[in-house]
Amino acid sequence: MILNSMHHLTRTQQFTRSSLDQLFALASKLEKEPDNSLKGKILAALFFEPSTRTRLSFSSAMLRLGGSVITMESGQASSQAKGETLEDSIRVVSNYCDAIVMRHPEEGAADRAAKVSKIPIINAGDGTGQHPTQALLDLYTIQRELGRTDGINIAIVGNLKYYRAARSLSYLLGKFNDIHLTLVSAPELRIRDDIKAYLRKHKVTFEETDNMQAAMKTADVIYQTRMQKEWMSPEEFKKNAGTYIITRKLADSMKKGAIIIHPLPRIGEITDDVDTSPHAVYFKQVRYGLLVRMALLKTILTKWK
Ligand code: CP
Repeated sequence: MILNSMHHLTRTQQFTRSSLDQLFALASKLEKEPDNSLKGKILAALFFEPSTRTRLSFSSAMLRLGGSVITMESGQASSQAKGETLEDSIRVVSNYCDAIVMRHPEEGAADRAAKVSKIPIINAGDGTGQHPTQALLDLYTIQRELGRTDGINIAIVGNLKYYRAARSLSYLLGKFNDIHLTLVSAPELRIRDDIKAYLRKHKVTFEETDNMQAAMKTADVIYQTRMQKEWMSPEEFKKNAGTYIITRKLADSMKKGAIIIHPLPRIGEITDDVDTSPHAVYFKQVRYGLLVRMALLKTILTKWK
């Protein structure tokens, strides 16, 4: 079985290598074969934080599999504005649907929701905690574009202290062989110690550096990130905004076959002229994300084994 017995997906540590292989095989199958297996099922999208890709791709994935989607807005449009707790909202909404995909600004919110929910909770980002489905689509992009998930040199660039998707991906990479991570950031934005301990335990070699130019010449994958004003202190943002910009000249210095990925949105950290580079796959990544989310919904809602 791909996920734990309750079928909640709150963190990437829940996956095994074999369950990732199964999920990705299903994603590739769904690209080729129409599938209506979620007809009659309802997904609730609860987004307490802004989103374009995650929210719309989950909705699209559900509709493409024959299912339906209901949504709850944060702010004045829901009873959150009257002071309803997250737990009570989940207890109520779980009567209206078969699964809930939720984004929330607080780390640990998905686990809190899972504790009280009688239906599956899918974490679509919980503060600076995790963004598991983004990491799944990042890894699926690597598999599709490089043809492998072992023996890879990956450079993650920029905002490593707060980037939940990079945290989730690091946990997934611990399940593969011969992975080397180059963690490129300013000293104050280094990845947190819990991830470093995990990488050491799972024999993922890593180095920390502030030299993006050097990393770009040797990496198989450049994982660029956005400086996130919403999580960084004003001092951190002021000091780091505008650093680590991938230009066309830098992209041209990459190895043949190496790729640039980015969860998006970008706010200038990859210049527009990189979009036509053979290394740029961040818009293809969006399509892979739809396939992975289709595979995940089908798995969770039909208990696929
Ligand atoms: N990558 C990502 O999570 O994008 P959104 O914030 O638009 O969902």
